[in-house]
Amino acid sequence: MARIVVVGSINMDLVTVAPRFPGAGETLLGERFLTVPGGKGANQAVAAARLGAEVALVGAVGNDAFGAELKRGLAAEGIDLAHVATRDDVGSGTASITVAEGDNQIIVVPAANAHVTPAQVEAARPLIERADAVLVQMEIPLESVEATVRLGHRLGVPVILNPAPAQRLPHAWLALVSYLTPNQHELATVLGGAADEDFRALMERAPCPVVLTRGDEGAWYREHAEAQHQPGFQVTVIDTTGAGDTFNGALAVYLREGLAQAVRKACAAAALSVTQLGAQGGMPRAADVDALLARAP
Ligand code: RIB
Ligand code: NA
Repeated sequence: MARIVVVGSINMDLVTVAPRFPGAGETLLGERFLTVPGGKGANQAVAAARLGAEVALVGAVGNDAFGAELKRGLAAEGIDLAHVATRDDVGSGTASITVAEGDNQIIVVPAANAHVTPAQVEAARPLIERADAVLVQMEIPLESVEATVRLGHRLGVPVILNPAPAQRLPHAWLALVSYLTPNQHELATVLGGAADEDFRALMERAPCPVVLTRGDEGAWYREHAEAQHQPGFQVTVIDTTGAGDTFNGALAVYLREGLAQAVRKACAAAALSVTQLGAQGGMPRAADVDALLARAP
């Protein structure tokens, strides 16, 4: 069983399904509203847990109704929450999500997630030490992301950094990342490049290995000094929210099977996740991933 530690955000997702996106100043009638668990850290933890990994999450929620519900959901997935702080001074993180036109728009209010500290990361050292991989994203303070990367590197544990939402990162510690998992836009932002720069050129400029996701076109990575392409799996798209998180959770779980196989399984898991509404809805079990791979060409 893979042991995974996730350092990251926990949000309640307030999801509205609409026929299209509203313009500025416009009021639209939507089709559906639901309150479902999300947050990139929590989503990646759930993705890994569903695939059979032993998962611990480092993060924070507020001492409020959302926080309690989010922790209940994560516990029900079998995730170790000993390093999830419950804060009295601030509310739980939220994401207001509109799903329309086969795409989404998201506004995240970090709240408690903005208070995930490097000290919390350090306190999780005994777990990180014996982990097969550590996953971290950027919905928590950058100093805590850096602390995670540096600690994983020092302990010799592979660190996967999903640079979302993206900002420019210093090469001093970006170079210590085992796998950076951006989409093209995020990679350009992280490296301070132009948005239209060719993604293969961007990948070559990165100071660390990159696994680049390209939506339904799958993923690109480098192995044996060659760029490799894993095509995406074609499915009926209901909601792409959390597809990247499912990819990252799966990549961490399957890393032990080699990078090519891990990327293949991560693409399959992400494809399955978009067939159901909600970031965590549709996240597959290991048997579902195997079944999709067995019937794929
Ligand atoms: O990656 C998807 C997630 O981003 C959503 O669950 C939302 O909470 C935002 O953090
Ligand atoms: Na989904």
